Amino acid sequence: MLSKMIKSLLLLALQLQPTIQAPLKQPGIVARNSLPVRTIAGVTVVDTPIVRDAHDFARRHSSDWVYKHVMRTWLYGALIINHNATLKRSVDLEVHAVAVLLHDLGWDRTPNSTLISTDKRFEVDGAIAAREFIRSNKHGKNWAELRVQHVWDAIALHTQPGIYDYKEFDVKVTGSGINTDFHGPSNGITQPEYDAIVQEYPNADLYPGTNETITWLCQTKPNTTVDTWQQAWGEHYVENYPPKGVSTWDMLSHW
Ligand SMILES: *[C@@H]1O[C@H](CO)[C@@H](O)[C@H](O)[C@H]1NC(C)=O
Ligand SMILES: *[C@@H]1O[C@H](CO)[C@@H](O)[C@H](O)[C@H]1NC(C)=O
Ligand SMILES: *[C@@H]1O[C@H](CO)[C@@H](O)[C@H](O)[C@H]1NC(C)=O
Ligand SMILES: *[C@@H]1O[C@H](CO)[C@@H](O)[C@H](O)[C@H]1NC(C)=O
Repeated sequence: MLSKMIKSLLLLALQLQPTIQAPLKQPGIVARNSLPVRTIAGVTVVDTPIVRDAHDFARRHSSDWVYKHVMRTWLYGALIINHNATLKRSVDLEVHAVAVLLHDLGWDRTPNSTLISTDKRFEVDGAIAAREFIRSNKHGKNWAELRVQHVWDAIALHTQPGIYDYKEFDVKVTGSGINTDFHGPSNGITQPEYDAIVQEYPNADLYPGTNETITWLCQTKPNTTVDTWQQAWGEHYVENYPPKGVSTWDMLSHW
């Protein structure tokens, strides 16, 4: 009787065991922590269906130079994680990948893009678009809210190291990887690793592209740039900038 009960309990336990997802059968793909991975420019990155979908979505909504920036910053972030035992243990690789791949959706320049608002700063447009992407994706619609929140925060804060450095590791490492594209190797990334990524995705258009894009934001939705780091582009390159009555200074100095 007892042994029969134990036997059926064992059977039940076996049935309840989570099924481990088999790595996709493609060349160059090996399992790590049960998540499939692939190698790009010598860097091991996670390779799951939602990460592939995020990659395709970013490709469709990015000009060529933004796409290369997005790919470099994914790879820098992955290197920062791979070089750091704490991050390797704790960062949610899919959250990081989806956040970094979608971090510049607020720069979508396709005509009449529905991702771009008239009244929100571009980091928030990107965060909202990424949340909608996840919730409408068949692999993302059941993600725990905390994962979606980390993607949202990582994108909304990616230009603010003074804030993201003190946030959850998923958020912090997204920002650090993006920052690396503007400031060079750090956080354990070696020069040869950095050079291999730049060779795969050249960065000569990063500065002119960013300069032109920030100027465009200051022209097309100036209110969203006032009191942000983008304000300097408006002051240098845009006529009748800043708009009156928008800055905190304008509001508080008239008290
Ligand atoms: C690993 O990353 C954590 C979180 O960013 C950081 O606090 C720690 O200093 C890093 N460790 C090393 C050895 O760089
Ligand atoms: C964008 O919207 C404007 C105004 O509604 C319209 O005239 C134009 O044809 C649209 N462009 C595209 C590419 O859909
Ligand atoms: C940055 O953009 C402004 C406005 O288009 C332009 O006048 C300036 O020459 C650009 N600077 C560089 C270094 O590309
Ligand atoms: C910008 O902000 C000012 C001050 O609040 C407001 O009067 C103006 O309508 C805003 N412009 C746009 C385009 O939203």
